[in-house]
Amino acid sequence: MDALIAFSQLVVTFVVGTYFFVRLKNESGTEKQFKSEYKREAELLNKMRHIHLSEPMTESVRPSSVSEIIGQEDGLRALKSALWGKYPQHVIIYGPPGVGKTAAARVILEEVKKSPMTPFSKEAPFIEADASVMRCDEHGFTDPLIGSVHDPIYQGSGAFGQNGIPQPMPGAVSRAHGGVLFLDEIGELPNEQLNKLLKVLEDRRVLLESSYYSSSNKKIPAYIRDMFENGLPADFRLIGATTRSPETIPEAVRSRCVEIYFNPLMREDILSIIKQAQIRCGILTDKGVNECIADYAKNGRDAIKILQSATNLVRMEGRPSISIDDAKWVISSSRYKRTKELYTKDGGKIIDISLIKPLN
Ligand SMILES: Nc1ncnc2c1ncn2[C@@H]1O[C@H](COP(=O)(O)OP(=O)(O)O)[C@@H](O)[C@H]1O
Ligand SMILES: [Mg+2]
Repeated sequence: MDALIAFSQLVVTFVVGTYFFVRLKNESGTEKQFKSEYKREAELLNKMRHIHLSEPMTESVRPSSVSEIIGQEDGLRALKSALWGKYPQHVIIYGPPGVGKTAAARVILEEVKKSPMTPFSKEAPFIEADASVMRCDEHGFTDPLIGSVHDPIYQGSGAFGQNGIPQPMPGAVSRAHGGVLFLDEIGELPNEQLNKLLKVLEDRRVLLESSYYSSSNKKIPAYIRDMFENGLPADFRLIGATTRSPETIPEAVRSRCVEIYFNPLMREDILSIIKQAQIRCGILTDKGVNECIADYAKNGRDAIKILQSATNLVRMEGRPSISIDDAKWVISSSRYKRTKELYTKDGGKIIDISLIKPLN
């Protein structure tokens, strides 16, 4: 009898042992598989990080200080004074495309940090977001502008998910805390997002909600409890920019912001932008080329684009400088139209397009 019991114990031990041995082996096999998969992905990422195309000319000629922004003296003065003092204000910049709105917003924070009264610290962040891509899903699971909560049900087997801890994910408004949030194309922001943004401007914090949050849940770390109870900090100044007209921007936003207008660029300004880019990038042009480009560029961005295409053309063909024929060829191959209105500094005279001979 004893021998039988001992034998059956041996069989059970063997079966159970074999079961765990096989499981362990499978698990370590999966782990090995994962590790080699991670390694392959990491190597691929590393390889991608080592590939760099040269910086586009549009980037290398981007103004790096206020003094490099041409032809927007009034707009810049208004922008600087709105942010300079002890109590900086929210701002909306209106203006046509390609006249320096984004360029100005990108350099203004560094400029106003020089103010002796400024509440912006040396480290104050400048966060840029494009309102035309700032969509949030209807349940608010992801909201790159305002922030969201990753609930345990969506976290899977990670530490937060397993312990039932909802995880707050800060949005652009919290990353801009203490600095400036630049919201390009603010006119494209969906209404729902806009209302949330207005609430944040009012409260200077983001209040988050989750049905998984309970103040009595001892597993929830203190910093997450603090985030749910006191909100995420979001004290910043907003700079919005738009090509839309003021009437199309909701009154609720307009009334909270100083409204600033950037002008269409004058011909002289476009010539100065071309000159500035030429010097920065070491581009040679024959006499009359810059004037020819200025006749067809509606704005600073067009001017830089035409100059870049003409530069690429002459470099491809091994010539040292851009000729009038090169500029004309680029202009006609990209089908630029002569600018309808040419603003000039001599009293803001506008030259009628019909007076200008077509390019042959
Ligand atoms: N007023 C300007 N002064 C200097 N460069 C300008 C100006 N306007 C446009 N540019 C050139 O055109 C590019 C695009 O301008 P950007 O500021 O993005 O235009 P916007 O935001 O008004 O559409 C800039 O990087 C710069 O090279
Ligand atoms: Mg812009």
